[in-house]
Amino acid sequence: MFITFEGPEGAGKSTQVRRLADALRLDGHKILVTHEPGGTRIGESIRSLLLTPDRDHPLAPRAEVLLFAAARAQLVNKLIAPALAHGTIVLCDRFSDSTIAYQVGGRGLPFDPVRQIVSFAVAGLQPDLTFLLDLDVGEGLSRKQGSKADRMESEDRSFHQRVRESYAELAAREPDRVVVLDARRSADELATTIHALVVSRLEVDRSTAKTSPSLRQDGRVARAPGTREEETRPS
Ligand code: TMP
Repeated sequence: MFITFEGPEGAGKSTQVRRLADALRLDGHKILVTHEPGGTRIGESIRSLLLTPDRDHPLAPRAEVLLFAAARAQLVNKLIAPALAHGTIVLCDRFSDSTIAYQVGGRGLPFDPVRQIVSFAVAGLQPDLTFLLDLDVGEGLSRKQGSKADRMESEDRSFHQRVRESYAELAAREPDRVVVLDARRSADELATTIHALVVSRLEVDRSTAKTSPSLRQDGRVARAPGTREEETRPS
């Protein structure tokens, strides 16, 4: 099963990814935790290009979307697809929905070509389940105060407002996949809700002996239970 976490700045995704990983490991599952952009050595180099502010050399929006896609292609190829093929549950902090929200919603790039770029990069891989932690933009950005703003966080408030709206549209288009949660709830409450939802989804999958739709590339199906634990290692 492939589970992603999405949301605007400061929504607390990383905490919830960690909490879910801990809970599922206690349940006995093999878990891979990773994040975007990054997760591989090449992806981390691209992350630094994307997030380090450099006012003297602004990144063109089309270059930006291609760099996010390149980092993702590397991550899928090197880590996510092999882990899913071994029956590992993969938790990813951001994935393709971030590109739609930030580069289409935020930057205003056209939807169709960006969707094609994203789909090409991931070879058709889609999350089985996505948790969207929704939060007021002002509140999210103020939660981030104290740490130095990266290149994306430095965008103005209207950019981040468009990102939030784009996420909401995306969730409305795919209600079966995207679960919207109010990020103002306590971390404990959110962790409990998320864990319960994943456990019930895993039970449904098991009881219907459903083969995972995670890997759609090459027509192969991801299902090979009982394999070793994977770690996020740069490659
Ligand atoms: P984060 O790892 O702290 O969430 O930072 C990643 C930043 O990059 C965040 O501002 C969202 C942004 N982003 C995009 O603009 N497009 C993307 O496709 C991804 C994955 C992230």
